[in-house]
Amino acid sequence: KLFIKYVEKAQFCVRIAPSTRSFMYKKILFVCLGNICRSPLAEAIFKKQLEIRGIQDQYTVDSCGISNQHIGDRPDPRTIRNARHHDVEIIHIGRQLIPSDFNNFDLILTMDRSNFQNATEVSARASGKKGDLKMMRSFDPESLGTQDVPDPWYGNEEGFEEIFQILSRTCESLIDFLEKQQQTEVKKARIPTSL
Ligand code: 4NP
Repeated sequence: KLFIKYVEKAQFCVRIAPSTRSFMYKKILFVCLGNICRSPLAEAIFKKQLEIRGIQDQYTVDSCGISNQHIGDRPDPRTIRNARHHDVEIIHIGRQLIPSDFNNFDLILTMDRSNFQNATEVSARASGKKGDLKMMRSFDPESLGTQDVPDPWYGNEEGFEEIFQILSRTCESLIDFLEKQQQTEVKKARIPTSL
């Protein structure tokens, strides 16, 4: 018995208190109106940045729309074209936000205030433990108080480049936040083992 305790000590056995696990955001859902421009792009950029950091296996990432108009659709060709230009491949089929998404994801990020308002209403139809709902640009280090990722649907190619730039830097900052949050939680939860 003493030997087992010694081995545990030697390996610096770290136990994580179950209550602290729930504070880590590991399942991330991006939400926009149609789920064919902003949110599938955010999903693809976020996944690529996770891959570059070698931490893609630690996260579940998805995207969806408030509207039911583009269920089953591929992303807008302008979004795909612009993303390819930046070496980002988007693989996604449109789907609508549903109440159970609030049970299945830890962090739900909306692209604009209108999406946020609508998502709040969907969240009210979910019961039990729910993920946190936040605005995507609350993680943008250069937002200068702007809350919305602009809707590029009625605009031109420049609008698609603009959202790529916003989402790219915001995803970097979001991952920095998530990784720091994880380190803090693991540190807090370290239970020293004693002989
Ligand atoms: P998204 O853009 O919300 O970024 O996917 C839009 C896509 C389609 C429409 C509006 C916004 N639409 O009206 O069909």
